[in-house]
Amino acid sequence: MMNIWQQAQQDTLVSQNYVYFDTGAAAPPPKPVIDAVKAYLDKTAEQGIYLPSFRKATYQQVEVCRKKMATFIGAKESEIAFTKNGTESICLIARGISWQAGDEVIIPDTEMLSNISIWQLLAEEKGIKIVTVQADKQGVISPASIECAITPKTKLISFVALSNITGVMQPVQAICEIAQKYRVLSHVSASQAIGMYRVNVQSWQCDFMSFCGRKGLRAIEGSGICFVRESLIPLLTPMLVGWWNSSIAPKTGTVILPKTAKRFEAGCPNIPAIISLNSALDYASQLGIEQIEIRNQTLTQYAMQKLATIPNIEIYGPDNSNQRIGIIPFNIKGISSDLLMQKLEAKNIIIESGHFMATAILQFYNIEKMARLSLHYFNTEKEIDLFINAINDITKE
Ligand SMILES: Cc1ncc(COP(=O)(O)O)c(C=O)c1O
Repeated sequence: MMNIWQQAQQDTLVSQNYVYFDTGAAAPPPKPVIDAVKAYLDKTAEQGIYLPSFRKATYQQVEVCRKKMATFIGAKESEIAFTKNGTESICLIARGISWQAGDEVIIPDTEMLSNISIWQLLAEEKGIKIVTVQADKQGVISPASIECAITPKTKLISFVALSNITGVMQPVQAICEIAQKYRVLSHVSASQAIGMYRVNVQSWQCDFMSFCGRKGLRAIEGSGICFVRESLIPLLTPMLVGWWNSSIAPKTGTVILPKTAKRFEAGCPNIPAIISLNSALDYASQLGIEQIEIRNQTLTQYAMQKLATIPNIEIYGPDNSNQRIGIIPFNIKGISSDLLMQKLEAKNIIIESGHFMATAILQFYNIEKMARLSLHYFNTEKEIDLFINAINDITKE
């Protein structure tokens, strides 16, 4: 009989053709997720999307998924908005807050573009001030350095839970506690974290959280979530309005908005994406998020040990593997990361090479690009061995 991880690999069709180490960009959805989306699309082809009874059932499904998502992250269903990706969720929060010129936003230097550009634009448009905090050499944000950066003008701290670049699991709870102590808002970018280990807004105590569904959670592209703490929902201006999230008061003609996070969803929902999230949540819950975390830690430690045996390798990020999960960036002297990626692809092993939009981190290590191994529970020790052997072969060529 197969164990749960063998079953997970069997459900991962890409594993029949490739060794896939790029969950950090997007994980392959498991077969049950794809089947659920296909079944929905087939029905839309056979009976039309807006067949009244079908549409009613579909909207009920949307609310079932909202509830499931809320339970998965320790939120209330009224605090969950469906979006199309992590970036959109960050922008909904950033553009929703009412800013005054001079308001300060703390952004560590660990962030990728989607948690940089919007703040930069708001600095240009509204005169907010971005305060950058440096992480330590290993890419870990120290809560004390955040505390030092807080001033009476600080309005928000916006930071990543799990770095897409170094794989560091940041001390989210400790940072959010500091934010609370000084009555500063906190936004956690959890696009990499969700589905890799337990993400819980109650224990983290964050005010906002953004994430996409296509990475650790293994939903399809175009799926995302914006979590907004209940008390803050009425204070955020929705960036998008129309049918689905508004109505017009008949007597006054004013716009009426929902009191829940549905306020941030406008127009036709992305039903295939929501169906995929629903099924992906079932899949992750059946495996158990604690089990997934242990499995990911084990595979990460195994990959770290094996990578360390490769001559002339430089591994970036924390040495302490307890601080890291799923993501290991590295370079090997004598071969560019782009060439390594191409040569591995020729051997059906998929990794990514790039700058990962992380200028500060690259500058810190004085490199332009790096190779990134990004694994998930459906990977195996055997695949890691294949990857290590392939690198050894390539470097000897
Ligand atoms: C940490 C982090 N935040 C935000 C994003 C942006 O998410 P999306 O690509 O879904 O817009 C990503 C995507 O790579 C990410 O890794």
